[in-house]
Amino acid sequence: MTEPLDVERIRKDFPILGRTVRGDRPLVYLDSGATSQKPLAVLDAERAFYETSNAGVHRGAHQLAEEATEVYESSRAAVAGFVGAHADDVVFTKNSTESLNLASYAFSNATAKAAFSADAVDPRFVLRPGDSIVVTQMEHHANLVPWQEVCAKTGAELRWIGLTDDGRLDLGELDRIVDVTTKVVSVVHQSNILGTVNPVARIMERAKAVGALGVVDASQSVPHLQVAVADLGADLVAWTGHKMLGPTGIGVLWGRREVLEAMPPFITGGSMIETVFMEHSTYAAPPKRFEAGTPMVAQAVGLAAAVRYLEDLGMDNVAAHEHMLAGYALERLAALRGVRVIGPTQNVDRGSAISFVVDGIHPHDVGQFLDDRGVAVRVGHHCAWPTCRRFGVPATTRISPYVYNDTSDIDVAVEGILAAQNFFGV
Ligand SMILES: Cc1ncc(COP(=O)(O)O)c(C=O)c1O
Repeated sequence: MTEPLDVERIRKDFPILGRTVRGDRPLVYLDSGATSQKPLAVLDAERAFYETSNAGVHRGAHQLAEEATEVYESSRAAVAGFVGAHADDVVFTKNSTESLNLASYAFSNATAKAAFSADAVDPRFVLRPGDSIVVTQMEHHANLVPWQEVCAKTGAELRWIGLTDDGRLDLGELDRIVDVTTKVVSVVHQSNILGTVNPVARIMERAKAVGALGVVDASQSVPHLQVAVADLGADLVAWTGHKMLGPTGIGVLWGRREVLEAMPPFITGGSMIETVFMEHSTYAAPPKRFEAGTPMVAQAVGLAAAVRYLEDLGMDNVAAHEHMLAGYALERLAALRGVRVIGPTQNVDRGSAISFVVDGIHPHDVGQFLDDRGVAVRVGHHCAWPTCRRFGVPATTRISPYVYNDTSDIDVAVEGILAAQNFFGV
């Protein structure tokens, strides 16, 4: 049983939502797919850390250093608990982009090292011409460009799972695309542009069947759904803090213990070593191996506060609230003449991010029109340019609500679209 979110009460926790924009227009924030707003609990947690316990972590023999280390590591445990994981399997990064680069560099770095010493690396990470990497046609650039780079450095071939006209993965060809040559399958859980929630467990199962490593980009699912990383069947799962009420500057890469232990490091330097000699070094066990340099302690503390806030709301309640908003928005958009949703129009296996185009009006003009009325939406290719091309559109307008939105926000956006159509005479 889910309980409805008390949006009026929630909004009081987000000071920014009380401001006006473009003169005296109340802010209607429908751009949480880009970044979410932050509740006071997150702002307070970061401030309290700096006011009371700030110090370098994992080094120094004074009380503040001990306290800072304790809050950093307990934040890791809180974030791990949020996705049903063990703290040691959670690596803090800067954002999803860095998490996915950490994953992809493991392959190009291992391949480069193997040219000199095959024994030094786990063969699962070594790629050669004839190998393949599989993504989908709905990836955010963060889960596409890094794999293109790996292919360019190793000679592996990039393949992708195409899309159906209603914005879902065309899985009919899955077994042909993911075959014995495949070494990595990296797919998005919930699309930032289409809103589609993909059956990643099924895709990961196929990856496992051919001996490939499986990676999931969960940037748009962990903030919106109850996700237990183990259930995805992946080896590595990436997401980002700022889309789930947390601060900017912190992301996560979860990994299966055995896979993290086999992975070469990405960024090297201090804090990630075991021993250092002039000629060579050995590396610490994960997660420290992947956290070189001074980590983002205050941001980890802020992310843990965000996790507690979401847990208090209940992720099932959050998902149900967004499902209700998605259904309402899809219905209202369907009733508008000349508006086409790019992505699933049925409110099944989809999130609340909804992209659309309006006949005769460029998405940027729609966005500007909405902005004049205080409505913040995202316009453009949403870092998913190939997806836009697949649907024959240069760009879309996207609404992406979250826990602090209700149906009245959708109404204001719909009135704005109608006003734009009137203004442009379409
Ligand atoms: C699906 C998806 N993957 C990756 C990213 C990249 O996240 P970040 O910019 O925090 O690295 C985003 C951000 O929009 C996203 O929506």
